[in-house]
Amino acid sequence: MSEANTTRRIIIDCDPGQDDAVMLLLALASPEALDILGITTVAGNVPLDLTQRNARLMCEFAGRHDVPVFAGCDRPLQRALVTAESVHGTTGIDGASIHRPAVPLQDRHAVDFIVETLLAAGDDPVTLVPTGPLTNIAAAIEADPRILPGIRRIVMMGGAMREGGNTTPSAEFNIYVDPEAAEIVLGCGRPLTIAPLDVSHQVVVTHEPLDALRAMPSRVAAETVGMLEFFNRYDSEKYGTEGAPLHDPCTIAYLLAPELFEGKLCHVAVETGSALTRGHTAVDFWGVTGHPPNALWLHRVDPAGFFALLIERLGRYDG
Ligand code: RIB
Ligand code: CA
Repeated sequence: MSEANTTRRIIIDCDPGQDDAVMLLLALASPEALDILGITTVAGNVPLDLTQRNARLMCEFAGRHDVPVFAGCDRPLQRALVTAESVHGTTGIDGASIHRPAVPLQDRHAVDFIVETLLAAGDDPVTLVPTGPLTNIAAAIEADPRILPGIRRIVMMGGAMREGGNTTPSAEFNIYVDPEAAEIVLGCGRPLTIAPLDVSHQVVVTHEPLDALRAMPSRVAAETVGMLEFFNRYDSEKYGTEGAPLHDPCTIAYLLAPELFEGKLCHVAVETGSALTRGHTAVDFWGVTGHPPNALWLHRVDPAGFFALLIERLGRYDG
């Protein structure tokens, strides 16, 4: 992949969720590559009051009290919120030891933080890394389109093509929850990399990475084991696999080691009108529509390299 591996300024927007939480721990362990300007949270896997708490907990576990955490939109742009407690548990990060985080919640709304940061980006534009419903990102674009030049690239987790949907037969959760927000982001005109179920289903959590984490002395490793053991149970039963696909860490892994991934420039559109196929990502993989590509659609990942990176970075946390 052509993305140069240099220190880049990012904003992570997420809905923790165990896989978002592992994504955060991976990003927070890589300060030489990622300057995390802030973590913004959105309603998704669980309601906003829990996703923001969970993000703050991950910053505390990682010892990264320097990274500000913001709460954003508590529901999709137009629709009622759909959550996924059946997958993630009632806390969103079942399997972790939960307490009131020492890391405070910022007063500013996440959308205001995103707008102000991107307007001030100047000649050092910011990479956005959304791993939940795209409500905050879309709301920021709608609030002030002048932010667009401040976006270097959007590297998002969402969508599905060959893998099919995980929330309906047609749709992946992040896009299903807020398809109108996805439509705004897909049409924003900024460079876009999409890590869909098609790649996350190639990185299933097996006993090897879990055993490696169990051998580590750190609190982060212990919390990650607890979260992944819980996270594995739902998808193991649903898909008959040894574990769960590790969706959201694919975004950060792409930024840290793009050579692990293979993608194709495609036109990607989203269904917003149909009740049956709401949130479906229509990926023009073979260029049959004549529409110009608007996204780099990742469709292959090196699982061994992905987990080697994840274990090496989580191994940086000391006891
Ligand atoms: O469909 C998987 C995505 O939905 C992941 O981001 C997961 O955390 C949930 O948000
Ligand atoms: Ca997520």
